[in-house]
Amino acid sequence: MRITMVGTGYVGLVTGTCFANTGNHVTCLDIDERKIGRLREGKSPIYEPGLDDLLRRNIKAGRLEFTTDKAQAYQSAEIIFICVGTPSDARGRADLKYVLAAAEDIGRAIEAGPGPTGGGTDDRRAKIIVIKSTVPVGTNAKVRDTIGRFTRKPFRMASNPEFLKEGAAINDFNRPDRVVIGCEDKGTGDRLRDLYEPFVRQGNPIFIMDIPSAEMVKYASNAMLATKISFINEIALLCERYGANVDEVRRGMCSDVRIGNKFLYPGLGYGGSCFPKDVLACISMGEETDLTTLLLAAVHEVNQRQRDMFWSRIEEYFAGDLAGRRVAIWGIAFKPGTDDVREAPSITLMRRLIDRGAKVVAHDPVAHETCREILGDTVEYSDDMYGIVKDADCLVVCTDWDEFKQPDFDLIKAGLKQPVIFDGRNLYRPEFLAELGFTYYSVGRPTVNARVNTPATPVSTTPTA
Ligand SMILES: NC(=O)c1ccc[n+]([C@@H]2O[C@H](COP(=O)([O-])OP(=O)(O)OC[C@H]3O[C@@H](n4cnc5c(N)ncnc54)[C@H](O)[C@@H]3O)[C@@H](O)[C@H]2O)c1
Repeated sequence: MRITMVGTGYVGLVTGTCFANTGNHVTCLDIDERKIGRLREGKSPIYEPGLDDLLRRNIKAGRLEFTTDKAQAYQSAEIIFICVGTPSDARGRADLKYVLAAAEDIGRAIEAGPGPTGGGTDDRRAKIIVIKSTVPVGTNAKVRDTIGRFTRKPFRMASNPEFLKEGAAINDFNRPDRVVIGCEDKGTGDRLRDLYEPFVRQGNPIFIMDIPSAEMVKYASNAMLATKISFINEIALLCERYGANVDEVRRGMCSDVRIGNKFLYPGLGYGGSCFPKDVLACISMGEETDLTTLLLAAVHEVNQRQRDMFWSRIEEYFAGDLAGRRVAIWGIAFKPGTDDVREAPSITLMRRLIDRGAKVVAHDPVAHETCREILGDTVEYSDDMYGIVKDADCLVVCTDWDEFKQPDFDLIKAGLKQPVIFDGRNLYRPEFLAELGFTYYSVGRPTVNARVNTPATPVSTTPTA
């Protein structure tokens, strides 16, 4: 099939490349000339494991191309996937300006192109416009209206929300747990089912449903995952207040198969380009119909508070005196496996440190450039994770990259002015760090060797294992 992906971000680029890899001819369109220029050279503008190789192979095979030429990209396609961003607007609603701008371009291109004329939607040659971006219920209808304002030629609409995870995106797309397709006619459903057949050969389901339900599935899924994270973070705070250890609580709780053990890790709160904005968009969808989404409002608030609580630990440890302190940060990306720093808890934390006059030195395996786009040179970046610890007043772990999991603690201790670690990802065993002489703060677990007023309860430094 001839496919055009609109937007070459994390979703459009990965899914377009994977469609090309199953033999389709894919054109990736973007308005960002710099991105398209890089992609034409076979260089990915984002970090995603395995993507560079897949890109190069499919470009070489002539199945994958990149363009900024809208008319050519839209007119040549049988199926057009809209994969542009849907960030939060000032009121927390999904901002549809990129989606609607793409719709307008598509309408104009269909009208000017050689496609079938006539007014119906049942023409087999009519293009299928698929919204893959995460959009509020009703957006498909808005896009249909927008395209329809610019053309009288037939086209069909579908919704196909994307569930890939950054850092594991290629595997997720090639072996999806499920594919969700929202459409209004059997022909559209069948064509999209055919397109996805190679990806579900192991029997995972393709669910075909009405468009509003398909749009809602994506929000409901992300809202559920965000809820799990906020839930365990709130439990972690209770654990701190009462001297319980959230690791033990998790183990005891998650062995119940009704609860399960996924997405129940306490930390700095969820971040990234999806959960924060999608929870807010759900809240706004409710508001627009006079429905207060009580649970989701709390999920969002708990997430904000989690960042505040972690920050207040650092502040309390230094008795509010952060000016001139050197703070080493391990991990900037909102999670391991990606260079995406949108809504990353590390960014909130670094901003606060900088505002209070601290000198921030940070290391991330892949996210220096994306961080620089937001914080510029207010942060010092280094490829040497131990180098930044030297003469620092403390180490703060913000992302659970593998290389931070079993570090050389002797080197850390020798480098730091005082052996203090604030761990927002619970990577280390508190008893072990106590044994090594560190002051160690984590989330929902007893703090060891606490010095200054801290809400957590200091525990015995005797190792238990
Ligand atoms: N990132 C994820 O992990 C993920 C997962 C599932 C769903 N989603 C959803 O997918 C959508 C895209 O997310 P993303 O992270 O890939 O976004 P992104 O910001 O990384 O990429 C969007 C791209 O669209 C381009 N663009 C904007 N307007 C355009 C236009 N008119 N024509 C052509 N290109 C245009 C931008 O230049 C940019 O390159 C969002 O709705 C998001 O919520 C994201």
